[in-house]
Amino acid sequence: GVTKHYTFDIKLENVTRLCHTKSIVTVNGQFPGPRIVAREGDTLLIKVVNHVQNNISIHWHGIRQLQSGWADGPAYVTQCPIQTGQSYVYNFTITGQRGTLFWHAHISWLRSTLYGPIIILPKPNVPYPFAKPYKEVPIIFGEWFNTDTEAIISQALQTGGGPNVSDAYTINGLPGLLYNCSTKDTFKLKVKPEKTYLLRLINAALNDELFFSIANHTLTIVDADAVYVKPFETDILLITPGQTTNVLLKTKPHSPNATFLMAARPYATTGLGTFDNSTTAGILHYESTTKSSKNLPIFKPSLPPLNDTSFATNFSKKLFSLASAQYPANVPNKIDKRFFFTVGLGTSPCDQQNQTCQGPNGTKLSASINNVSFILPNTALLQSHFFGQSNGIYDTDYPYSPTHWFNYTGNPPNNTMVGNGTKVMVLNFNTSVELVMQDTSILGAESHPLHLHGFNFFIVGQGFGNFDPNKDPKSFNLVDPVERNTVGVPSGGWVAIRFLADNPGVWLMHCHLEVHTSWGLKMAWLVLDGKLPNQKLPPPPSDLPKC
Ligand code: C2O
Repeated sequence: GVTKHYTFDIKLENVTRLCHTKSIVTVNGQFPGPRIVAREGDTLLIKVVNHVQNNISIHWHGIRQLQSGWADGPAYVTQCPIQTGQSYVYNFTITGQRGTLFWHAHISWLRSTLYGPIIILPKPNVPYPFAKPYKEVPIIFGEWFNTDTEAIISQALQTGGGPNVSDAYTINGLPGLLYNCSTKDTFKLKVKPEKTYLLRLINAALNDELFFSIANHTLTIVDADAVYVKPFETDILLITPGQTTNVLLKTKPHSPNATFLMAARPYATTGLGTFDNSTTAGILHYESTTKSSKNLPIFKPSLPPLNDTSFATNFSKKLFSLASAQYPANVPNKIDKRFFFTVGLGTSPCDQQNQTCQGPNGTKLSASINNVSFILPNTALLQSHFFGQSNGIYDTDYPYSPTHWFNYTGNPPNNTMVGNGTKVMVLNFNTSVELVMQDTSILGAESHPLHLHGFNFFIVGQGFGNFDPNKDPKSFNLVDPVERNTVGVPSGGWVAIRFLADNPGVWLMHCHLEVHTSWGLKMAWLVLDGKLPNQKLPPPPSDLPKC
């Protein structure tokens, strides 16, 4: 591979959407941010220079970061944030991955405007496992807020209530023609007839899983989270925040005298301040259409209802690894450690004196894994670990299974309180892990897109109701399960994943709905060094930011 250099200047820029102008934090003044294009095997040196008042940190979402844990990016986990006037060079090599990923800020809610695609091409002279597309187009979904997202989340955390929802979903930063005052801010994809386009779909939205479809066109899914999958056709797909999906779009043989909309809107099963019902749309326009595009009939795709869990589940069950000689599925077979984690919402005590919080019964809304709502430390976990200074920073007594609430899908319990702490789960190098994640319906069943840093995992099973350790593992798929970095834990159900802990460092795992992360739905795995030199975390780079 080659070494590629990028500079990310973090600066403010005035941007107008929906007739509201606001100053947003950007990379190089661009919104969405710049594309990173590299090949498998390349090394990236990305210098991030902070010219704004906010503390900044950037995460390269889905990049394995083998032996480069210092470049992963989550603030207070692998690094202290980059302070005003400071810079940091993220230095990592892309190993064993090709497809689409993305980068985003990983501090507070700054990823609402700080995000952009990472496009990983195969090594030189290695073809795709499908016919070479005529053109490749990144499509990145996001959310636009008319007001300042930092103010929205800090107010929500203070009052204990749900944060304001966004004012629009966006395609490549544009809300599109179905919103008021937005017709000119519509993404347009000009296409030629009878060609195949590779759409690189990325869900960078803060708080919503999205259904996506293009009117009168079928999509062929070929890749998920930068891993090839067995191709399958679908009219509609689901993409959660943190997921990326490559699809082939075959255009029609003749230029139709029509305009086709592509559209996305949320999948959501509970209403705790996470979604609205609006739709972002872009236009698929055939270049050679003779009539002026103004007078063409417009076809809109039909998307499933907001709470269509059966569509969501059926869709995720259609994803399988290629599991071919060239692209094998290395599913861990012999399991060293089994874990059972509950994920879901709950409440915590209102800490405002003489004030009532807006959560149920005057509490604060909160979220947890195994009843632990995670609190970020004031320094970075990875530094504390590397320098042997964990005392007072984090604890290693992370629970293997939940401490309370044992009927996850039945009636909500009386006590909805979660505990809290900065706890990590320690794993020896090369531990093979099976993790069952169970949704809880304490404050309503909900699908949670869980993202694991530093690893891909195989999704070996999923189901509804309470996971049954005696029965359910019998039907696990250990042959060709899909491999990814973000999985929707089904609403009112469970999912089982397997991964090999072959990457030393501290790796965050969290719900990629930003509001749930803010409420504490996160934890960290601490993977110890192995014995060989290439199994150890190297020392930190000299410019690693200080807290
Ligand atoms: Cu894309 Cu920890 O996140």
